[in-house]
Amino acid sequence: MLVTSRSYAEYEAMFDLSELPDSVLDCCAGGASFTAEAAARGVDAVAVDPAYEMPTAELVDTVRRSLPAGSQIVDQHAASFVWNWYGDPARKDELRIEAADRFLQDVSIAPERYVAGSLPELPFEDGQFDLVLCSHLLFTWSDKYDQDWHLAALKELVRVSRSEVRIFPLVQQGAGEPVLYLPDLLKALSPVRSEIRKVPYEFQVGADQMLVLNR
Ligand SMILES: C[S@@+](CC[C@H](N)C(=O)[O-])C[C@H]1O[C@@H](n2cnc3c(N)ncnc32)[C@H](O)[C@@H]1O
Repeated sequence: MLVTSRSYAEYEAMFDLSELPDSVLDCCAGGASFTAEAAARGVDAVAVDPAYEMPTAELVDTVRRSLPAGSQIVDQHAASFVWNWYGDPARKDELRIEAADRFLQDVSIAPERYVAGSLPELPFEDGQFDLVLCSHLLFTWSDKYDQDWHLAALKELVRVSRSEVRIFPLVQQGAGEPVLYLPDLLKALSPVRSEIRKVPYEFQVGADQMLVLNR
């Protein structure tokens, strides 16, 4: 799996964010710059990812190598992507390179913000974060993680949130096929309230919705 580096601007659009609450967890943050930029805005922001177990040199190498590898996935499934949001591939690459640089800089100056951990068992207290974000792990990698794993992961994201969890996208990586067991998962999460909400971002064709869960 790639350790990709989405930017704050991409997170803002994917999760339709405006004001951020006091505390936010980016779960499966990879090389994203969201945590660094949220912290710079005064938010108590924490990133969690199993990749943070790597020694620094290996993490730097993995994040750098994931930049062209991510573009390759897009090239291989060109007909499944639209460029309205980015404009063109050069702008997307520019955003991702800037985000990777910002992430790597922040890891070196504020390592306490970057916690090694994996779903479905996160090293946090119940209700520790006002908002929990999850970009491009659940559903995206449903060829790797099955329905039971997804249910356990969703329950864990809800456990560590004080109020809301937002997950994007709701389709599989590459061609963006739907995840057929999503309705069953939402039923199984009851009494947690779930809503599928449109967002102002689309890259995989038709993937312009996030899942919002409320305790
Ligand atoms: C495609 S990247 C997404 C990174 C970032 N959220 C973004 O949008 O650019 C997927 C990330 O999920 C992490 N990951 C893989 N398995 C995980 C698990 N069980 N729990 C949490 N994160 C996991 C990987 O290390 C990788 O950094």
